[in-house]
Amino acid sequence: MLKIAFVGWRGMVGSVLMGRMVEEKDFSGFEPTFFTTSNVGGKGPDIGLEIPPLKDAYDTKLLSSMDIVVTCQGGDYTKKVYPEMRKMGWQGYWIDSASALRMEDDSIIVLDPVNRAVIDRGLSTGIKTYVGGNCTVSLMLMALAGLYSHGLVEWISTMTYQAASGAGANNMKELASQMAVLGLVSKDLLDDPASTAIEIDALITKEIRKSSFPVEYFGVPLAASLIPWIDSAMPSGQTREEWKGSVESNKILQNEKIIPVDGICVRVGAMRCHSQAFAIKLNRDVPLDEIAEMIKNANEWVELVPNDKEPTLNRLTPAAVNGTLSVPVGRLRKMLMGPEYIAAFTCGDQLLWGAAEPIRRILKIIIQHLS
Ligand code: HSE
Repeated sequence: MLKIAFVGWRGMVGSVLMGRMVEEKDFSGFEPTFFTTSNVGGKGPDIGLEIPPLKDAYDTKLLSSMDIVVTCQGGDYTKKVYPEMRKMGWQGYWIDSASALRMEDDSIIVLDPVNRAVIDRGLSTGIKTYVGGNCTVSLMLMALAGLYSHGLVEWISTMTYQAASGAGANNMKELASQMAVLGLVSKDLLDDPASTAIEIDALITKEIRKSSFPVEYFGVPLAASLIPWIDSAMPSGQTREEWKGSVESNKILQNEKIIPVDGICVRVGAMRCHSQAFAIKLNRDVPLDEIAEMIKNANEWVELVPNDKEPTLNRLTPAAVNGTLSVPVGRLRKMLMGPEYIAAFTCGDQLLWGAAEPIRRILKIIIQHLS
């Protein structure tokens, strides 16, 4: 029976992964062992099975007795343990949600509804390292796979509206605390029907500028504001998040000709659902109804939302999409710049298709490959 290690199952991505695996009854046909960096001997997750106490995630000897290691522990762990394991001659499969190994020559970025052929080629040529993509990139490709697969995309400009969850669990909690503080300070004015919006705004603006406002993790207010910078600076003037758009999408698809993707990535006060506004340059003029069909038929999770107010408000927002696997695409129309220019908007859960789901699915694909 295959031996599979799980590391980092308790964090945000890891716990969403565990939840999805239990939901899909994935824990069968292999022997799971759960590892920890902090609680050796402790109790593992509730997966509906008897499992042994937690093992040490730095015990490379034990880890290298595994056929597959699945880690959502983060980049520092990967950078420490992965090279040691390979140096020891370990030939197993390493499945990782962190970005550390994404751009390595001998790794494949996984998003099987979009690049199953690339994955299958990797498996048959002996690639052993499979990494989940950046959430924004994966969600963009899920949404626009139909245009890519028809070879229609010349370039994409994507302007993002990224949720707090992408920055981490503490950031998500900080957003909620910021909202709570604002709710509390404005309560009296909100309760008073005679108060004006201008008074409430003045109070909120004063509050978010106070040194007591909770900004330990974001550094600045996100509630009642936004942050037009995600991750570190790159020499190009892009942020690293913006840089990933092009390099990762091209690596995922293994395009012969590079298809540029660029834009500005912005953090907004959504909880776990990233949204993106696209300007897409097609390489030829295609009627809008054909474009809509291509987008809609690309995979079973894409949902085309008519470019009308009511369905847009009800189906194309983080409030509607949070916690689901649905990837709605809407606001689809030709742009004023010319018939090859298309506008579209998408939302997707950053922890599901953006992180845990591609990992869950590659694990199944590799298990299938090995049996
Ligand atoms: N880097 C992303 C973000 C999340 O900050 O939203 C991880 O892919």
